[in-house]
Amino acid sequence: MNILLIGGGGREHALAWKLAQSKRVKRLWVAPGNGGIAGEVTASGKSVECVPVCAEDLEALLDFARAHKPDLTVVGPDNPLAAGIVDLFEENDLRIWGPNAQAAQFESSKVFAQDFMARHSIPTARAGTFNFPTAAKAFAGELNGRCVVKADGLALGKGVLICETLKEAEAAIDTVMVDQQFGKAGNQVVIQEFLEGTEISLHVMCDGRTTILFPTSQDHKRALDGDKGLNTGGMGTFSPAPFINDDELQAAAASVLNPWLTGCLTEGIDFRGMLYPGLMLTANGPKVLEFNARWGDPETQVYLMRLETDLVDLFEASIDRRLAEMDVHWNDQAAVCVVMASGGYPESYAKGKLITGVADVGAMEGVKIFHAGTKYEGKNLVTSGGRVLGVTALGDTLVAARDRAYAAVDKIRFEGAHVRGDIAAKALQD
Ligand code: AMP
Ligand code: GLY
Repeated sequence: MNILLIGGGGREHALAWKLAQSKRVKRLWVAPGNGGIAGEVTASGKSVECVPVCAEDLEALLDFARAHKPDLTVVGPDNPLAAGIVDLFEENDLRIWGPNAQAAQFESSKVFAQDFMARHSIPTARAGTFNFPTAAKAFAGELNGRCVVKADGLALGKGVLICETLKEAEAAIDTVMVDQQFGKAGNQVVIQEFLEGTEISLHVMCDGRTTILFPTSQDHKRALDGDKGLNTGGMGTFSPAPFINDDELQAAAASVLNPWLTGCLTEGIDFRGMLYPGLMLTANGPKVLEFNARWGDPETQVYLMRLETDLVDLFEASIDRRLAEMDVHWNDQAAVCVVMASGGYPESYAKGKLITGVADVGAMEGVKIFHAGTKYEGKNLVTSGGRVLGVTALGDTLVAARDRAYAAVDKIRFEGAHVRGDIAAKALQD
């Protein structure tokens, strides 16, 4: 079959790499793709084709799909999902994987997600949702200012402000609601109590009726070692995350997923796609910080190194409500992804820097480089984004995977490259 994959980051390189391994896939187009995706080849020997269509240009994507008739379209990023690409393709009789716009609200509206959690008693932080700054500030006062202020809508992952004092919280509320630094995303806010604990990522494949829980993983959101610096899209991941045992994981997942699924069914929300709850393991049990409605980036990179099941089968079972029949298999190795970013990321950074050493890593066993912000200028691979590469390794243990990933990172060079040196370190302390 022929597949169209939408997106062009590290997550999409990992998805493209895994899809290309499926014996079922003949042609794979990726819109817009990146320098690494362009080098992949499908199991039937055809080069993966990057097409110059932006992941947010729904009309152009529809035109492409009408012209090329993919048997399946897979959506990577949140923005096209929130904008209703699934609804649009389905109206045009095109088969597509991902949540529709109503279901994607779990990510695209933090107010929707928080109110849903309250309606269905899903364990989460003490929280309120507000339309006006005065009421928001009063609630922040009740929390003594130690709270997290979240703009309602998608804000490139930047609309979440962590506050220690009431003064900071009031300023954050003004930034979001009055100054509208994140635009219309700040018309409403969620204020959550600040939760202490260990954060893990859950990934749950859904078909509207059945959920399949993936192994755990953990991201490193801050730019600098020791969880210092600004929040980023994610500087590195590992899986599994050994902070809870299997029984605790099953119990935590059930406490979230049972009421979530019942809530979706009673409210008529047909969630067929990936639910990715961010979970804080607190002294009072696990609590949901947020829901995403897509695969995490760079969580996908570690998951797909471990997944043994055919990814096309998994997507099709999610669309056709057949997940209950699926047996999903994972290798029992550990995976670690270390992100190499452009110096300055997540603020401004230079582009166009020559990347060397990628070919040397190609020969290393158990290592795969997933490209994010790269492109070819003639024969030269150069940087073209903030997160440039996700250097990902498998190992029999987390230590082995971590050591392999960093050994590969050491071979790669580009001017200004920034790497966190402590990916997976917390999992290795006792
Ligand atoms: P979100 O986009 O809602 O996941 O928030 C981004 C990051 O902010 C999360 O990954 C957490 O590290 C942090 N965060 C969000 N909400 C809270 C909270 N209630 N307590 C502590 N940290 C939080
Ligand atoms: N890993 C963070 C995210 O995908 O949102």
